Order: sequence, then structure tokens, then C-alpha cells
Amino acid sequence: MSGPDLHIADDLGWAEEAAALLHQLSEESVASTGRCLIALSGGSTPAALYCTLTGPEWRQKFRWPQLHFVFGDERCVPPEHPESNFGTARRLLFLPLAIDPARIDRMKGEAADVDGAAREYEERLRVLTASPRPAWPTIDVVLLGLGDDGHIASLFPGSPALEDRAKAVAVTLSPKGIRSRLTLTLGVINRATVVLFLVTGSGKAPIVRAVLEPRSAAERSLPAALVHPHPGRVIWMLDRSAAHELHQPQ
Ligand code: 6PG
Repeated sequence: MSGPDLHIADDLGWAEEAAALLHQLSEESVASTGRCLIALSGGSTPAALYCTLTGPEWRQKFRWPQLHFVFGDERCVPPEHPESNFGTARRLLFLPLAIDPARIDRMKGEAADVDGAAREYEERLRVLTASPRPAWPTIDVVLLGLGDDGHIASLFPGSPALEDRAKAVAVTLSPKGIRSRLTLTLGVINRATVVLFLVTGSGKAPIVRAVLEPRSAAERSLPAALVHPHPGRVIWMLDRSAAHELHQPQ
């Protein structure tokens, strides 16, 4: 079995290479279906990419009207909250690019009924991807960050949602920070055409090694290690600092 598709960029060039890779993936999807459905990741890593995408070079290269944005996960806070993944994307990506709100579907983390919000989002994903049950919604590109505990989206180690084979969107509890979360489940993530990990910084080097070069059953069962899209593929977009504990030929 071929190894993972690793892209390792100089720390300073990471955002540019990530933008070029995302552009290539979006162009492939638009050429194939006329659209690219992208699930944005949360946390802080995407900010550098968003700033590059809204810069003079890339803002005019992407076919923004053919892109539709959904989210991999959301904190259960209002969109105006500084911890909102949608709020960050709106501020750094959607508003600077004047993305039509009709092509953005956020998870309603602020809902009093979070289970209802999860079900509502799942239904929206099914409509967007024409995937009635029992099919899984198929997202063209799922962006994922990597937590230093190996979590992806809001699927944390030990989370019951990791075992959920029925729901496309689940409610989970984070061990840190904003506790209550909405998240795509592995069922949807592993039906993506492409899963693109965006990971930077030396602080992530140990967990990157644990996921890509596991040395124990525990490491092999980390949430990020369970990402095996089929028939899709996984691409890792790393900077050199995040990759520096890997032994694989760079
Ligand atoms: C979230 C994310 C989460 C994030 C990782 C990495 O809502 O927090 O979706 O999965 O991608 O925790 O976060 P950083 O990019 O901040 O390191």
C-alpha cells in the first residue's frame, strides 16, 4: 500500500503551497462536477491560509462562485464569539472575498437544542450532496487540522462519536476550551473525495510522527489515524517544523 501523500513546505512557504494545493483540488472538482464542496477546519492554523487566499495572487485565481463552504466542526457558541470557527472564516475569508452567503452553510453552534442542530446540519449536507439515507454525504474536500492529542474536527480520543456509524454529524465534548461541539463523524470524513490535513509548527511534530509513524496500538487508534477515505485520498500539507520528527524520506 502506498504511503500517505506528504507535502512538506518551508515554514515560510507553507501557506502559499497550501493555497496552490487547495486551488488544484478545487479546480479538479469544478472540472468534474461544476462545483467544489469544501468543509473548512477550525482552530488557528487555517488563518494563515485564509490570509493567503484573500491576497492579490490567489483571490483572482480561484473560481469562488463554484465553491460551496461547509464546516468540519463548530464550537457551541454564537457566530460572533471569538472561538467560533464560522466567525473566523467569515472575518478572514468570506467577507474579504465577498462570498455569497447562499454558498455558506454554518453549523448552528449557538442552538439551545444542539442535537437538533446536528440533525439539521446532517439534513442540509444530504441535500447539498444529494445523498439520502443510507448513503453518506460525499464532500469534495475536507480540510482537517490536527490536535496535539490526535483529535480531528471535534472527534477527540475516547469520544463515543468515533464509533458512531449512523450519524453524519454528532455532538461531542471537548476536554479543553469550549466543551460542547458539533462535528462531522468519521462516516462522512471517510467518504470525502479528498481529506487535506493542514498542520504547522514544531509543537505538532510529536503528534504528526505518532499518527504517520505509529509505534503502538494506542497511536494507531488516534482519531487522526482513523482517517482512511475510500475511495478518496488523504493529503498532508505540513510545514518543515511539523514534519521534523518524521523518518520518512522528505
Ligand atoms: C477546532 C478544530 C480542531 C483543530 C485542531 C488544530 O474546532 O478546534 O476543528 O480540530 O483543527 O485542534 O487546532 P490548531 O490549528 O489551533 O492547532
